[in-house]
Amino acid sequence: MNDNKDNTPDWQFVAAQLRQPNGEFATEIGQRMNVSNLQIHQFTFDELQLHPDLEILEIGMGNGHFVKELFNLNPDLTYTGIDYSKEMVEASKTINSDLCEQNKATFLHCAIDELPFSEPIYDRIFTINTLYFWSDPDVTLSNIQRLLKPNGYLTIAIRPKHIMEHHPFTAFGFTLYSREDACRLLEKNGFNIVSVTEKKETGSSGITDEVLTFESLIITAEKHSI
Ligand SMILES: C[S@@+](CC[C@H](N)C(=O)[O-])C[C@H]1O[C@@H](n2cnc3c(N)ncnc32)[C@H](O)[C@@H]1O
Repeated sequence: MNDNKDNTPDWQFVAAQLRQPNGEFATEIGQRMNVSNLQIHQFTFDELQLHPDLEILEIGMGNGHFVKELFNLNPDLTYTGIDYSKEMVEASKTINSDLCEQNKATFLHCAIDELPFSEPIYDRIFTINTLYFWSDPDVTLSNIQRLLKPNGYLTIAIRPKHIMEHHPFTAFGFTLYSREDACRLLEKNGFNIVSVTEKKETGSSGITDEVLTFESLIITAEKHSI
């Protein structure tokens, strides 16, 4: 991963690839994220309260490796994934070609604030490990509000600030959130907090072979009723 002479990873490069995988390292970073982010996906899916016929939007699905797991939990979903990395969108389409052919899954190359919809069409919107990169969270949350159906849920999963601040790559362009920061952000943007789940994870970072202790923070919120 673009090691320096002393064999430490180039953390600025790693951070840029995590933010938007691109170029010759995109495939590798996508695969590494699948290793490091297995448990946070499992914990998040447990919170989605999936039942048949839900319309789901995922923001920043990476290479889409975990989408099949959603359909294993409930085969009667309709899923849209968006990502502004064209390499990740292409990988997602390839990995999930069966679901795409059956029109159960669609993958779009677009940024979070450029979604080509304006109607409230989603029952669930979720995003894992992207909040750190939102350049204007108030704008993004108002776009999400617009797309959520009245009883819809937004689920945001991150590694909280007290964990992430020990990882050198987060010095480069990551905005870190504590549980309180993230809840406050949602509440000030018109969401009621429905649940907050904190879970310990253990495993490889996927970036180096070091075994790390991570923690998942998963917040589910609903729109204020009008
Ligand atoms: C750190 S990766 C996480 C991937 C996956 N969700 C996971 O947890 O393994 C962040 C992903 O979100 C995408 N992303 C980040 N900011 C985005 C934005 N503003 N709009 C669309 N996609 C974004 C990146 O391209 C990347 O694929």
